[in-house]
Amino acid sequence: MHIHSMAASHAAGKGSEPDSVFAVVSRVREAKKQPDADKVVDGSIGAIHDEEGNFSILPIVNELYRQMTPDELMNYATITGSPEFLQAAIDYTFQGFQPEGTIARAVGTPGGTGAIRSMIYNYLNNGETVLIPDWYWAPYKTIAQENQRVAETYTMFDENLKFSTEDLKAKTNALLKKQDNLLVIFNTPGHNPTGYSLTLDDWADLIPFFKACALDTQKHIVIGLDMAYVDYCGDPKEARRFLGMFKDLPENLFVAIAFSMSKSFLVYGMRSGALIGFSTSQDIMNDFTNIHSFSGRGTWSNGSRGAQQLLAKITGDAALTARADKERQELGQLVIDRATIFVKEAAEAGLRILPYFGGFFITIPAKDPKSLAAKLEAEKVFLVPMSKGIRLAVCAVPKSKMPGLAGRIKKAMEA
Ligand SMILES: Cc1ncc(COP(=O)(O)O)c(C=O)c1O
Repeated sequence: MHIHSMAASHAAGKGSEPDSVFAVVSRVREAKKQPDADKVVDGSIGAIHDEEGNFSILPIVNELYRQMTPDELMNYATITGSPEFLQAAIDYTFQGFQPEGTIARAVGTPGGTGAIRSMIYNYLNNGETVLIPDWYWAPYKTIAQENQRVAETYTMFDENLKFSTEDLKAKTNALLKKQDNLLVIFNTPGHNPTGYSLTLDDWADLIPFFKACALDTQKHIVIGLDMAYVDYCGDPKEARRFLGMFKDLPENLFVAIAFSMSKSFLVYGMRSGALIGFSTSQDIMNDFTNIHSFSGRGTWSNGSRGAQQLLAKITGDAALTARADKERQELGQLVIDRATIFVKEAAEAGLRILPYFGGFFITIPAKDPKSLAAKLEAEKVFLVPMSKGIRLAVCAVPKSKMPGLAGRIKKAMEA
């Protein structure tokens, strides 16, 4: 008998489907080696590229990294993360909008991904379900599966492509009949893949709803906020305003924020972020630090010391902060300019897109996303097919390649 796998039963078959984004990325790489490489439109990867198509950085970040001592850069970070880093992550995340009277704590993680993992693992029991929207960042499902949990989706937009909380509330109520722990993850503002940001009105509707869910004190309600794109949604302070609305929460309603340095400091590969929580209860916050530090120790050990030092240095110095903000703002404007061209032309061409408020991506709903993406690839336009649409990484496509793109997609759709 030929054995195909040595995996335990829970691991059988996992990973056999290639990651949808990285599969496109590798085809782009090939296309860029061909003689007509200048015709390639690379809307696949979620990293900012400049107008010449080169990988973008914040120059101040590059400068500071190169000035670091070997110890600062390469020694171990502590399991939880250095105190300066943790405070910096908290300050950077709230920027004045920490709800009154709450105690905030942070635990360092390898990127926002690590923070999401820590949420999904620690706020649910084995086999339980995390609620996410039907347009979602694929790793949520991967992380749930990897940790023997399940991701269930709710319908995010109504038939007019308007954000709707109807199915979210129905699925929440149904889940609460089955499990005492509820975890709902919101990727906002600048949702991947659509670019939608929950508005203050959306939160004014949802926060009382979750408070009502928490009236049953048997239930542990956790709202997970994945804020990876918060700095690319217009005024970064305004984009954080909604955080201040989480006040007067009952003890059994908790908010956990995934903070990521990947997009805010363009250090994707440095793998740095934090899980941040806040509560009026000292006990809950002590427990928060304990459980997530333990999880870190048992999963990845600690975060990246160099990246942690970098954040502490920047946020601890007004001049460095101002420089980083300015450099980030310039790149953010580039992304907005590109998106503005696409959104305008989509309206003119009659191409339906999901509501874009900010962030790195725009999504075009499609009946047959795979065949649409294949048709576009034949024209050297590389977008990522998802289950119900195709995703355009506006962060990566130069302005010069934007005009006409919406029309080409519309044409390919009709062909
Ligand atoms: C929606 C979303 N959440 C979280 C992340 C986390 O990224 P990282 O682990 O690099 O911080 C990403 C990165 O692509 C993302 O798109």
